[in-house]
Amino acid sequence: MNIPKLKNKDLVTVSDLSRDEIMAIFRLTARLKADARRGKHHDFLYRKSLAMIFEKSSTRTRVSFETGVTHLGGHALFLDGNDIQLRRGETIVDTAKVLSRYVDGIMIRTFSHDNVVKFARSATVPVINGLSDEHHPCQALADFFTIYEREKKFRGIHLAYIGDGNNVANSLIQCAAILGINISIACPKQYEPDSFIVDNARAEAARSGSSLVITRDPEAAVKNAHYIYTDVWISMGEEKKAAAKKKALAKYKITRELLAKGRADSRVMHCLPAHRDEEIEGAVLDSGRSIVFDEAENRLHVQKAIMCALMKK
Ligand code: CP
Ligand code: NVA
Repeated sequence: MNIPKLKNKDLVTVSDLSRDEIMAIFRLTARLKADARRGKHHDFLYRKSLAMIFEKSSTRTRVSFETGVTHLGGHALFLDGNDIQLRRGETIVDTAKVLSRYVDGIMIRTFSHDNVVKFARSATVPVINGLSDEHHPCQALADFFTIYEREKKFRGIHLAYIGDGNNVANSLIQCAAILGINISIACPKQYEPDSFIVDNARAEAARSGSSLVITRDPEAAVKNAHYIYTDVWISMGEEKKAAAKKKALAKYKITRELLAKGRADSRVMHCLPAHRDEEIEGAVLDSGRSIVFDEAENRLHVQKAIMCALMKK
């Protein structure tokens, strides 16, 4: 099996990867997924350890990383951010240096994106961003693998994202631009995705020949979309902003009515966890148009490929 060698030590944002590297990861993902489905696993990370630091809650990321490293012959350690010395003031730099003496890779889910950057710089082993306030690269890679599995191509595919311009939106934008997928984001002015990320993605999209549109109009965004994506309006850590965000985002919601304005064969995506009947109607999430559980499953397979690429010597 061909394990890609990546130019960067870490996966902090999707932009750490080139198009060729992402495609190589997807080819490996497809092989690992097919083998896992028939009960076959590979010891590519035999006796290797992955430390997983969680400063925010998780279901998918925690279970898919832990199961994934076990499938590969290795071992994962769950480190609750509230239990380790980080909470009592040990610095990120010292924590990263110490963990690097024990383990072969570190996954971190935290608040400030700068902390992930600092962690990756200080660690001598690969660091994988398992979600920060600004990015969720593993999610975007699993989502585009899910699309690739269905379409076998990216050119001409259109993804519409409806809702908050958050961490997931930022990573989808970066990934779409690198892979050459057209992306439209429908969101209120005050909740647009990060402008620095958008500007860089526009330049990348020009190179890959795809489009990146930011609009206030959900109907315009979904009109030609093959995939229609949303995420929660209130991300972890934003609880205090809940009332203002719910008000501003009220019309940026995936409903049956909105879907009826677009293609009859469009599919619905969500990184989960969903707030039913808030950013997405429960009936839509449960309908045959929804591929949300394929996305969730593919976190496992894509992350296995990422761990092999970063951690296998
Ligand atoms: N989508 C995702 O990252 O889910 P968790 O918060 O459950 O890990
Ligand atoms: N935007 C959400 C994604 C959860 C997986 C959050 O950050 O809470």
